[in-house]
Order: sequence, then structure tokens, then C-alpha cells
Amino acid sequence: MNNSIAPLFAPLQVRHKTLRNRIVLPPMVVNRGLATPAACEWYGRRAQGGVSLVIVEATNSILFGEELTGSNLRPLVEAIHDGGALAAIQVFPFRRGQSTAPADLSPEDISRLLAQYRLAADICAAAGFDGIQPHGAHGYLLNQFFSPVRNQRTDGYGGDLSGRMRLAIEIVETIRPIADRAGMLVLYRHTPLRDDFGYGIPDSLILAEALVTAGVDILDLSPSSGGAPGDRAAPFTRLGVPVIAVNGLDRVPRALEVLEHGRADLVAVGRGLIADPDWPIKVREGRQDEIVVCVSCDECHADLRRGVAVGCAEWRN
Ligand SMILES: Cc1cc2nc3c(=O)[nH]c(=O)nc-3n(C[C@H](O)[C@H](O)[C@H](O)COP(=O)(O)O)c2cc1C
Repeated sequence: MNNSIAPLFAPLQVRHKTLRNRIVLPPMVVNRGLATPAACEWYGRRAQGGVSLVIVEATNSILFGEELTGSNLRPLVEAIHDGGALAAIQVFPFRRGQSTAPADLSPEDISRLLAQYRLAADICAAAGFDGIQPHGAHGYLLNQFFSPVRNQRTDGYGGDLSGRMRLAIEIVETIRPIADRAGMLVLYRHTPLRDDFGYGIPDSLILAEALVTAGVDILDLSPSSGGAPGDRAAPFTRLGVPVIAVNGLDRVPRALEVLEHGRADLVAVGRGLIADPDWPIKVREGRQDEIVVCVSCDECHADLRRGVAVGCAEWRN
């Protein structure tokens, strides 16, 4: 292996789990179900392509115990493990696209949500997942709770920063003991800066520190590039847990810049791995010129919106 790409292929130990390299498949809804052969095929293929960690797509918390069980999710975990990667899953509060705002949730809804996360963690543990990730990013419900603009609650889940962080922290505290029993890692995805939501990096650092204290093992910052690649992830590396950077890192020099400057410990490649699941192997083997490059045409997002199996205009796979 060429020395210049070595930072991408250094293993990383997180608690008792070993990631074989620094390349992560970030959560992406690909519209193939989860307890399906099509999902096993799609995620398994990305694992075979060489990523170290597959984070399975945003999965509605209410599906656990209903459509999704330990036994029907197990084949998905096995497909990812067979490809040599660790398997985590992102858990999304309530139904994706539902117009729930923080103020709409009654105290009973919040208790129900925590119970859903508890059940989801139990089921993920039974399925054999290596990690679980609450989805706190991209303007969805948990991100809205964090926002002084979006969170209009007047109870203990709103108001000052500690109130606005409370739900995220309680979710992590709910799943941490289950993760401990099962040997699962706890990840958390957060958007580090959102002017329209009225917060920036300083507030996000306070949240991240509290999340780590509550038991988060890996912080996933999305999107994490403002100017330089990974610049918005960099401040979080001082919190003592590995940090994932994401956004436009399918260009190898950008991914290497993030790692070499210590702006993050792991790089996630999203659309680039929709376009070419063999991105990691091709980089490792010096075959970068063979990579099917994501041209940012956003056909994958269009598939997502249409509710059809997400594919790539460059490589239908
Ligand atoms: C089709 C598609 C589905 C996505 N679904 C999710 C999701 O379920 N959860 C999430 O946090 N981000 C989701 N994302 C965002 C990606 O995880 C990633 O952060 C984003 O694509 C930027 O990385 P990239 O430039 O490498 O593609 C999705 C992106 C795409 C293209």
C-alpha cells in the first residue's frame, strides 16, 4: 500500500471493537426495507467493498418490536459482518417526514419515545448489531429540540441549553446500559452548526460533552465541512471519543486532509459509496482511477424522494 493513503487504512480501537480502517458508510435511506434480501445484498455489498463500519439507515423507532425484531434483523447484521465490517444502525424518533415539532410532544409522548429507544436498543442487541445511533442531526426532531428557534417548550425539555439538550441526553442514558450488556457502541449524529436553528459550534460542543458523559462512544458530525474539509468536526476531537466527519469526502485528497490534520478520526463516504461500493478497496489497491465517481447529480436523493430503491445514475447497482 502506498504510504500516502496509509492514514485511511489505520485500524481504530473503540472500546472492545476494532474498526479495520477509517472509512465509514454513513446512514442513508436506500428504500430496500431492512429485514429483506435486498437490504442484505445492498449493505453486504458495501461491507465487501472494504468499509470498516456500516451505519444502517435512519430507522423509525416505532418499527422496532412491530416490523423489526432481533431475528428478522439478524440476516442484515450477518451480511455486513460477512463482508468484514461492523454494523451499526441509526434510530430515528417517530416516523420520518412526520411534522412533529417539539411543542407537539406531551410528557407521555416523551416517555413513549424513550421506551421506543429502549426497545429498539434491546432488539438491535438481539440482532447482533455492534452499534446504535440516535439521529440528532439535519433538522429532524432531536435537532429541533436543541434549537432555541424551534424548541418553544416551557417545561424541562425546553428553555435554556440544558433543557434543550435533555431529551438527547435521556435517550443516550436509556440505551447505554443495554449497549453495555450487549457490547454495543453508542454513536450520536448531530449537525454542529445551523444559523437558521440559532446555534453554532460553542453550543454544540456543550451538547457533545454532555453526550460523551452520558455514554456516547463515537460522535458523528453532519455536515462537517464548512470551508476546509472536516473543519466543523475538528473542535469535537478534544472530547476524548472518536469523531466522524462527512460531506464530500469521497474525493481521496479531501478525506486524507481530514485525517492528516486530525480534524476527525473517521471519514464517512455517502453518495460516493452509492456510486461505487468498492471505493475503499480501489483506494487501498492504488486503483483510484477505476472509481465510479459521484458527480453530485442527486439522482439518489430523487430516488429517495420518489420512494424507490436508491441507485446511482453513474452505476446502477
Ligand atoms: C439517498 C440518501 C439518503 C440519506 N439518508 C440519511 C439518513 O437516513 N440519515 C442521515 O443521518 N443522513 C442521511 N443522508 C445523508 C448522508 O448520511 C450524508 O451525511 C450525506 O450524503 C453527505 O455525505 P456525502 O457527501 O459523502 O454523500 C442521506 C443521503 C442520501 C444521499
